[in-house]
Amino acid sequence: LGEYLRGNTQEVTMSHRKTLWTRQGVSFLHAVTKETLDVLPSFQIRDDDIVVASYPKTGTNWLIEIVIKILRAAGKTEESSDTMTVGPMEVQRLTALQPGYMKLAELPSPRLVMTHLPIQFAPNGISKPQNKVKVLVPMRNPKDTAVSMFHFLKYLMQMMGEKDDLRWEDFVQDFSSGIVPYGDFCDHVSGWWQMREDPHFLFLKYEDMKKDLLSAVKTIVTFLGVDLDESTVKGIAEASTFNNMKPDLDNAAAAERRHIARKGIVGDWKNYFSTEESEVFDAWCEKKLAGTGPTFEFE
Ligand code: A3P
Repeated sequence: LGEYLRGNTQEVTMSHRKTLWTRQGVSFLHAVTKETLDVLPSFQIRDDDIVVASYPKTGTNWLIEIVIKILRAAGKTEESSDTMTVGPMEVQRLTALQPGYMKLAELPSPRLVMTHLPIQFAPNGISKPQNKVKVLVPMRNPKDTAVSMFHFLKYLMQMMGEKDDLRWEDFVQDFSSGIVPYGDFCDHVSGWWQMREDPHFLFLKYEDMKKDLLSAVKTIVTFLGVDLDESTVKGIAEASTFNNMKPDLDNAAAAERRHIARKGIVGDWKNYFSTEESEVFDAWCEKKLAGTGPTFEFE
């Protein structure tokens, strides 16, 4: 995990800021290299790829698990297909000696492609209007996203045996300054949101999925164009609740997936934000997302 965060640099002092480098105003973990960002725009996307593009901690793995269950039920992918184990295409995996996209290039169709990249860094094949590829974009209210990322970074630092010196009051400021992996939340989400009129894109809000998971699963089934009977769809929704998914994630082969199922609720931010932090954060979001950006329910 040290390598995952730090890349090959020799930094020994750990604060989450030291795990980051910046390109064109966007912060990245060292596990995403300059070379990868150079080649990914021209990465070959196939028409039958299914892409999940998200800001980290917005429910990416939840959505991916649902998509996998749907594809398996429809007989569209093998139980053992390692399409599902590549991780974010831009990230150098702990267990592999190459970034995810290299492995992806070798895999048979249909592939499930996952990325946390902002749209301007993603493969052109994903975001061109004439594409056939289906893209699912999970979204989550930024306050719960920040709390989730805070815990995830603490977990990574702990796993590395580093001193846990990340304090909420510092982190919340860094989050709204974009000094976090994959950069500014508002820029990221409004970048992908530009594609909302494109029928090959499906935007799904975490809060809506929590409210009515069955409807969300039905929407995804229709979007993917597969034919499943009512009881299968219900079974997939039931198997995808937080409590039912948690044991599998907790026991995942990849260490960085084992802390994903943390709390799985809407509104945990209230346990972290002070009134003042909340007001400053709201003002930041309103300003950045005004006009063109999506809106979020903060509960
Ligand atoms: P919390 O940290 O708030 O619990 P990602 O997959 O993008 O890293 O997102 C992780 C977040 O999704 C975590 O949020 C995790 O608990 C939540 N999550 C994972 N599976 C879920 C499920 N089945 N239902 C609800 N939330 C889920």
